[in-house]
Amino acid sequence: MLPTFPMSRQCPYHPPSGYDALRQDGPLAKVRLYDGRTAWAVTGYAETRQLLVDPRLSSDRSRPDFPVLVPRMAAAKLVALVGMDPPEHDVQRRMLIPSFTVKRVNSLRPAIRRTVVERIEALLASGRREADLVPEFALPVPSTVICELLGVPYTDHEFFEEQTRRMLLATSTAEEAAAASGALVRYFDELIEAQLDEPREGLVGELIAERFRPGELGREELASIAMFLLVAGHETTANMIALSVLTLLEHPEQLDRLRADEKGAGDAVEELLRFLSVADELQRVAASDIEIAGHVIREGDAVYLPNAAANRTPEVFPDPDVLDLGRSARGHLAFGYGIHQCIGQNLARAELEIALYELAVRLPGLRLAEPVEQLGTKPGGSVQGILRLPVVW
Ligand code: HEM
Repeated sequence: MLPTFPMSRQCPYHPPSGYDALRQDGPLAKVRLYDGRTAWAVTGYAETRQLLVDPRLSSDRSRPDFPVLVPRMAAAKLVALVGMDPPEHDVQRRMLIPSFTVKRVNSLRPAIRRTVVERIEALLASGRREADLVPEFALPVPSTVICELLGVPYTDHEFFEEQTRRMLLATSTAEEAAAASGALVRYFDELIEAQLDEPREGLVGELIAERFRPGELGREELASIAMFLLVAGHETTANMIALSVLTLLEHPEQLDRLRADEKGAGDAVEELLRFLSVADELQRVAASDIEIAGHVIREGDAVYLPNAAANRTPEVFPDPDVLDLGRSARGHLAFGYGIHQCIGQNLARAELEIALYELAVRLPGLRLAEPVEQLGTKPGGSVQGILRLPVVW
């Protein structure tokens, strides 16, 4: 009997224990999906990198043979960028790269720090000594940042956060996910309509002026790019912030290390990205046969690359299950690899560095209010994280 995939985590900050068994079968193993289809699960670090740059693996989610990991994925239309192959993918990617360079992101750092500090000061000023840091910190920080970057009003955050949850949580049905993605596309269509008359500052307005008006970019495509950036821009980072805080509270000596050395925050974040690997569901379909590690991936085969497995490879990251903020974790695959490597990685790094450092320094007495076992995990097939983070200080 083949193991089923996706697998769920037992502990929110460790990969599913089933990945160890997969690894024992070698760098590639066969698994079974919920709909009965078989797929390859790649756990080897070298093989993951090799396959992620192989043009014979397709990301094109409009292909009828593109695999469905969980039912909600059949419906949620995340087709921009991540769901496309070259040459269409290159066109969109080139259009967006200038907005996410290190230089551009560095210019956003003061605004990110303001957002982070405001949120922490609001907690301190509340007079309470307890909070759920998911709605009060982890979610609003990246939501505010991506709203400012895109030119989306933050006052709409409850709407788009809720639709994103419905779209991305593995427990959503295909109908719920379809309704949520439809609602988000309509939202952006209206936002574009409004900005045709009254442009706002931000990337959506720039894309309207520079690409839509000259006829290079259609309205539907623009709405789908903007929606994907909004969804990818807040959900993954929010999960990463919440899960990082939880993990640091469970490893107090590492938290002390971060608090003592702001310059080390960059390395600390790389290690947390490796250790937590929240976007653990890279998926492809083979467009032609590929020979690798003694196997043949046949044309039409589904391929999953759970980067949480690759990022715990002992030959590449010694003692991989140990969180060590002092190690050099660069080379991790938490942002993917190859042509689809995360376009928002510089932004995510800046948000994480600032959010985690400021929280460590400004709330030195922070503790979990409940044992980690009670917080639960997100089902496999979702961006990994926690739904609530009850703390006291
Ligand atoms: C810690 C936070 C984040 C993590 C862990 C993460 C992870 C990833 C991963 C693994 C991929 C590759 C998917 C694949 O190859 O199939 C990816 C792609 C992408 N991410 Fe992120 N991401 C994060 C934050 C962000 C942010 C803040 C943005 C936008 C502002 C963003 C936008 C994108 C986009 C547009 C792509 C598709 C790129 C392409 O296909 O060319 N991500 N991300």
